[in-house]
Order: sequence, then C-alpha cells, then structure tokens
Amino acid sequence: MTDTKTLQLDAAMPHSLLEGAPQGLTGKPLDRVDGPLKVSGRATYAAEYAIDDLAYGVLVSAPFAKGRLNAVIADDALAVPGVIDVVVDLDSFARNPQQGGEEKAPTQGVRDIDYFGEHVAVVVAESFEIARDAAHLVRFDYVEGLPDAGFDDRLDEAETPSDSQMPAHQEAGDPDAALDAAEHTVDAVWTTPSQNSAAMEPHASIATWDAEGRLTLYSSLQMPSSDKKQLMDALDLKDDQVRIVARYIGGGFGSKLGISTEGIAAAIAARAVERPVKVVMARQQVFDATVRRSNTYQRLALGADASGKLTTVIHENIVSNLPGEDFFEPVGIATQFLYAGENRRITHDTVQMNWLLAGSMRAPGEAVGMLALECAMDELAEKVGVDPVELRKLNDPEKDPTQDVPFSTRNLSHCLDEGAKAFGWAPTAPASRREGDWLIGTGMAASTRSNMTMESSARVTLTPAGGAVVETDMTDIGTGTYTILAQIAGDLLGLPIEQVEVKLGDTDLPPGAGSGGSWGAGSAGSSVYLAAEKLRENICTAIDCEPTGLTLKDGHAIAGNNRVPLSEIVGEGMSAVGTIKPGQNDETHTQASYGAHFCEVRVNAVSGEVRVSRWHSTFAAGRILNEKTARSQCIGGIVFGIGAALSEELVHDPRDGRVVNNDLAEYHVPVNADVPMMDIQFLPERDEWANPLQAKGIGELGISGAGAAVANAIYNATGVRVRDYPITLDKLL
Ligand code: MOS
Repeated sequence: MTDTKTLQLDAAMPHSLLEGAPQGLTGKPLDRVDGPLKVSGRATYAAEYAIDDLAYGVLVSAPFAKGRLNAVIADDALAVPGVIDVVVDLDSFARNPQQGGEEKAPTQGVRDIDYFGEHVAVVVAESFEIARDAAHLVRFDYVEGLPDAGFDDRLDEAETPSDSQMPAHQEAGDPDAALDAAEHTVDAVWTTPSQNSAAMEPHASIATWDAEGRLTLYSSLQMPSSDKKQLMDALDLKDDQVRIVARYIGGGFGSKLGISTEGIAAAIAARAVERPVKVVMARQQVFDATVRRSNTYQRLALGADASGKLTTVIHENIVSNLPGEDFFEPVGIATQFLYAGENRRITHDTVQMNWLLAGSMRAPGEAVGMLALECAMDELAEKVGVDPVELRKLNDPEKDPTQDVPFSTRNLSHCLDEGAKAFGWAPTAPASRREGDWLIGTGMAASTRSNMTMESSARVTLTPAGGAVVETDMTDIGTGTYTILAQIAGDLLGLPIEQVEVKLGDTDLPPGAGSGGSWGAGSAGSSVYLAAEKLRENICTAIDCEPTGLTLKDGHAIAGNNRVPLSEIVGEGMSAVGTIKPGQNDETHTQASYGAHFCEVRVNAVSGEVRVSRWHSTFAAGRILNEKTARSQCIGGIVFGIGAALSEELVHDPRDGRVVNNDLAEYHVPVNADVPMMDIQFLPERDEWANPLQAKGIGELGISGAGAAVANAIYNATGVRVRDYPITLDKLL
C-alpha cells in the first residue's frame, strides 16, 4: 500500500520546506533536464512513436460552412491502391468535442455542418502520401445553407451566454451616472480579431487497440487526465480501457487543452481497420478546425475624479462562438480586480457565428481584455495629466474591488516602481522624438493573470539505489515541468537533481493538473511537495525523530547526531502519493500574479512599419521555481503580446467564415527579427495562500498587458491611437 498525503487549500501556509532547503535547487536558473533529449531528437513526440503495422489517416474536411451533409462519397478514394478504408461514421466527433462542445448523433456520415472545414471523414492508407492523395478524391452530397458569418453588422444579435470561467454580467453601484459625473472620462471601442494558438507542433495522434479492447492514444495534449475523460465519453469506454501518453508536447497555448478531431478519428479508424492508425493534422487543418480565440468588440469606459482616482469602470464585451456553445472569451476577467472604482459593470455577450469553435487560448480573457483596459488607462493618464505609472499606482486597490476580499499577495505598485527604474522610464510628449525617418516612443502597461489551483496528484518513490522517481500524468508543454518537479523533489529529499527522475504525460501514472491556465507548476509542484513531505515523515518514523529536526542531504537522513544513509531506510523502495486540492483560499483571497511592462518602439514615418526596439518587464509571482524557465515563460508570453499588438489576425472570409490565412506564412506570429533583447526581473515574493510552494502562476503573465504597452508606445511615437488590433502599418498611415 502506498502512503498518501492530501492537502486542501483552506488556510495559509506560512512555512515552506523549500525555504532554506540544504540542496538549494528550487529557484535556481537550472538548465532543462530534458534539454539534451530535445536538441538531439531523442524526445519522442506524439507522431514519432515507431509502432508496428501502422496505418496512416488523413482527415477530410467539409467544403462548405453550413448545411446538411447527406453522404460522403468515397468510391474514388477507396479505388486508390493502398487505401485501406474511408471511415465516415465518425459519430463521436460530429463537433470538435474540445471543451465540452455539444454533441450530435449522425449516422453514416450524415450530419449538420456548422463551419467551413469541419472534419467529416478520415482516409486510412498504407502510407501518408497515399492517404493524402486519396483524401482529395472524396466527394460529398450536401445541401448548403446560408452561413451566419458576419460579426460587425450583427452586434445587436448578441445574447448572454451561461457563465463559464466568470459571470457573464456583473454590476455594482451606478456606473453610468458615475461616468456622467466624472471629471475625466475615456469611453471608446477596441476590437481584436480571431487568433490561433499557432503551436509549432501540429495536433497529432497515434491510436492502438490491444486484444482486450484497451485503447492507447499517443497524442499531443495539455491535460491527459481530462482528455482521457473526453475520450471515454466520446467512445463510450471505461476508465481502464483508455490510456493517453503525452510525454513531450511542442506547445499548445490552449489549443491542446481538449481532445481534437485527429485523436478521435485515429481511435475510431484504428478500431475500424484493426490496425494502429496515425493522424497528424496538416497546418491548414489546425487553423481551420481546432479552436480559435474569439474576436472581441470591447467598449471600455473609465471615469475619474480630478486627481485621476477611478470612480467608474465599464467594460462591455461582445464575442463570438458557434451556435449552442457556452464558452465565451472572458474578456473582462482582469477588469474585475486590477483597479479601484466603486461603480463597475462588466458584461459579456455572444454572437452566434458559423466560424470555427472559439475556446481558450493564451491567457483567455486577460490577453485581449487588457489590450483595451491598459490603453484606456494610458488615455486617461493623458487626460488627467499624470504619468501613466502614477495613475496605476493611484488606483492600486487595497482589496478586490469586485469581491470585497483581500488579495493574497499583490505587488503591482512595487513592480511599476522597480520596472520604471530598470527601464529608465521618462514620459515624453506624443510625437516628440524622431531620428531620421523613425519616430520613437515609449509605452508601458500593467500585467496581471489570475492564479488558480487544479487538483493534482504525484507519486514520489525513493529507490534502493539512492535516487528518487517522480511520476504524474502532468505534462511539460515546453514550459519546464520536468525540471521544476525534479528541483522540488530534490530539495525536499536532499538529492542532487541528477538523482531525481521525472516521468510525465501518461495516464497510467497518478492524475496531474495538466498544463493550462498557468496552474501547472503550482498544482503539480505542490503534489510532488506533498508526496515528498510524506516520505520525510516516514523517514522520521524510521529513525525516530521529529519532522522539524530532520535534515536530508547528500542521500542521508540527519537528525541530531544520527546520520543514516537513505538506502538503509527505504529498503526495497518507499513511495508516497501527494494530492493538492483547491479549497477556500480561492474565495477568501483573490490570487493573481502581477507585473509591469515597459517598451520602446520605432515607427517608420514613411512606411508605418513598427519595430519594437527595447523591452523591460518586472514581475511578482510568488516564489520563482526556476529563474531560467520562468524567464523563458515570460519572454514567450511577451512575444505573443507583441504578436497581438502588431500582427496576429485570423482573417475570416465574410461570405462563409472560412479562415483565409490558414498557415504560418500568412498568420503572422513574431519571429526573432521582430523581438528585441528582453530584460526581465522577478521581485522576491512568497504567497502563503497559493500553495505549499508559495508560488503563483507565470505561464500567461507575460502576454497579459504586453500588447497594450506596444500600442501605448506607438501612440507616444506617432500621436495616433489605433484601437483596432493588430496595429498594422496601413492603420498608421
Ligand atoms: Mo491555456 S489557454 O489554459 O493553455
């Protein structure tokens, strides 16, 4: 029997065993333990498993946006030598089931189509090339309807969705009257386009069924535990009939939170042809038929007194999604608590569109909401006549202005001060600096991202050889999970990092939190902490000492004059499972990470081209678990912020909503040449309400607010406010 230790987060945790741990691993900027495997090609990604007798599936897409598919005509495809089957009875993925999408029950491929490119069949062949070739020969019998593909002219059709991550509507005081009475106001509309997560690795799965009807899916997924449940639901399988393996993932950014069509198609096809089947989406299929971030229409109105103190905050949002979907982009999520103001209204309404499914992508909510909020604050600072840094400090609330509860830790003003110092912040008048053809400006914005905990379990085993093994189905999507879990276990067990082996991404291991919502490190790390803490208690029992008197170092347990090799204590091996559970702390304290972005841009006066030339961000996110991987997380987020400000935009054809720019040549994420050297600093902070690590989320902190800093710098350089993202050069001329 394995020992367990469970902690529900219902109280402060003022003491962490990581503080002053003799090994001192946690926090250090250690290299990724999986780095050598990745750069030498030995880290196996979903599509790379060498499986005997493998067949290859290629997804087939519906060639219309709305209507009734009466039949998939596969005769020509089936006649191609090497084609094994064309599987059309894909009942369980009638709609991409990501994030609980509504299910329909078609038969023999007959079904309703809601968006252009919906996957309706999979061609299975002896080679990928044959399958791809035959997929072009599949024809369709269908009745096309009239898609609802317009957004701008249908804003008045927006309906209130049911609550998902946050209440759709909330109001306090009398925000309209307060806006009328305010000394200074900003009241404008910002718009952001649909976006795609654009992970480097496309969605990919290999499905194999064993003789007992047990499915193993090698897949590129962020959340194996919940993905397994989706797969069980979709295929009507029991818990012991599904295993998901996701050891390495080439980025997800929200698009791999849920199972997508290629995984379900691989599973169904593999069952149908009685062979393992691999399905890898083409890049265009990733863009057409996985998930997008919704476009947004945001009215942001701020009212302030003569000094700049906010009296009212209004954030009214209209987003889009497929008919029948509850998920809405939670645009106003940071507006709830970032600034003071007793009168407030935050609303979200949804226009039903025949565009592909909208779901979570890279800081759902903050990433786009702060593009408006942080620019509105910049506009307000100008009207009041104060430094935008000072305006934010003036409105840094004592407690959560919406929930009326304290913050766990909140160092926004501290980040603003330290960031301004590090950057050399010195506000100048708009359009006042020029070098040749280049207009130069600086801008800043605050950053915040909610901190969340998800239930997570991990098993830690002390081995007879004197090392430790950490096991959980938590994932490393490029974030550094392998490394930080080894650091935490090494610190608690007194082992050098080389002696800690971390096994991830396999649902046969204890269920972890998965990677999403910036909760991965805190949640999974806490489960490892608890398992290791339990092992320490067992060691104390074995050598008869008090837990507070125990030191584990260099493979020895030390208590007073007693120094015992761990190998003597653990015998055949000693295991414990730790489980962290969210609790009251979520309600008693508003938890978020904070930061401040500062940047310089150069705008070409002739072409309108924007170059980001300098960047500094200061963050406070509780204990930093690994300064190197944390820094990389922040840089990655900021790069996405630059993308949101300047280039990222999914263009939908106005006639049928199909994605026009469905590849990475036309969907522009920033590349190295678009990004300056980044200067990042972390403030020392410990959050005793967050988790036993005292660490808060960092994955999505960088993107939050970053794009607004760019927009504010563009205004400072040019004197032009562009409120329609991305700020492409045509909008500046
Ligand atoms: Mo994140 S959008 O929860 O992967």
